[in-house]
Amino acid sequence: MRGDLLEQLQGQALDMANHIARYPLGPDRHGSSIANRAVLALREHPLASMIDPVAVLAALAADPEAERKMAVQTPSKFADCQLVLFSDSTISIQLLVWMNGTTSIHDHNFNGAFRMITGRSLHCSYDFHARPGDATCGVAAGRLEFVDSEIIGEGDVRPIHAGQSFIHAAFHLDEPSVTLLVASPVGVESSGQNEYRGGRLSVDESALPLIVARQVQALHILHKIEPEAFLPRLIECMASADLGRKYWILRAMDRIVSRLPSADQNRLHDQISRQHDGPLLLDVLFREKLTYRIVSLRETIRDPITRFVLGLFVNVRNPAQWPSLFQQYGARSIADASAYSQALDRIFDATFWTGIFAADEVSQLREFLRGLTGMPEGDVHISAILRDNAVYQTLFPEPVHSLYEGAEP
Ligand SMILES: [Fe+2]
Repeated sequence: MRGDLLEQLQGQALDMANHIARYPLGPDRHGSSIANRAVLALREHPLASMIDPVAVLAALAADPEAERKMAVQTPSKFADCQLVLFSDSTISIQLLVWMNGTTSIHDHNFNGAFRMITGRSLHCSYDFHARPGDATCGVAAGRLEFVDSEIIGEGDVRPIHAGQSFIHAAFHLDEPSVTLLVASPVGVESSGQNEYRGGRLSVDESALPLIVARQVQALHILHKIEPEAFLPRLIECMASADLGRKYWILRAMDRIVSRLPSADQNRLHDQISRQHDGPLLLDVLFREKLTYRIVSLRETIRDPITRFVLGLFVNVRNPAQWPSLFQQYGARSIADASAYSQALDRIFDATFWTGIFAADEVSQLREFLRGLTGMPEGDVHISAILRDNAVYQTLFPEPVHSLYEGAEP
């Protein structure tokens, strides 16, 4: 019976694909007819309404033929469970189950659309203004601009456009969030897929050239067999590298560097910060590290309101949008307001403020949160509060090492 459910879904997905092929639509304003067609199909076709995620997962768990039937792709970077219901040379239809998933700000190398089957996501969009003629090793400097945010829930459908015209992040609020995705073949519409890191770099992981991997490998080995040669070679390597190469190498060396004596870390930091784009690079790496810690923290938190507030911190860079998002999320009763207040209190002092937001944004956030939580006024510097705070200690049991301290905004 359960096996039948999987076959039934596959049959419906095939039917949906046939519908999509028949829609007589021209390109939309992004030049993507697939995205337009996918939106319509996800709204109109009965497939989405037939999906009960628990029943699908139960069927999958119990069916020895599941691998063959569903083209299950594991392990998947894209979701915690990724089921391909239909795939041919023009389109694929996939069911994605997210427990936490990525929170990265990214674009896509395919066109399509997705529909929320269950759960809610904090969905944000951005623009990236690249510095011209500057990409090296898949890394380009620029400025990420927050555009808009919304909470999307069951039944909502949003298009996906290949390339930098559609940069977004989805912070999954519920466990699980389940989405149905219609996508054109990967890489046909746009070759790379970028992540936008630290608000200042676009990064295409697939472009990472082998030669950087070899340098990284050599530095790793050097550190093991000739530790005193490691730092001079790393400094030398930083001096001659372009921005992309510096980024990848420094990122790969982070674990080793963070264990060096602080005098050595400071020496490296001083050298890098004097180089072209050095402060930018240190700032991005610092922010990335804090974001990573926050995202790790999310995995340990079940309370939906605290997850929601974390999502605001990570992805919504315009505090003016917070009140309406609170309302969309459902802060209607005194009990809700109190839960929000407690959640905010819990993370009010977390250091990712200073790591993720610029100084003026931090003061805006302080004002906003003070109003919401009744925090007292005071001239105490925020980072001094953070470092003595119990929440901060829980978030960051090890101090953020000194290499990046000078990069704090
Ligand atoms: Fe995405």
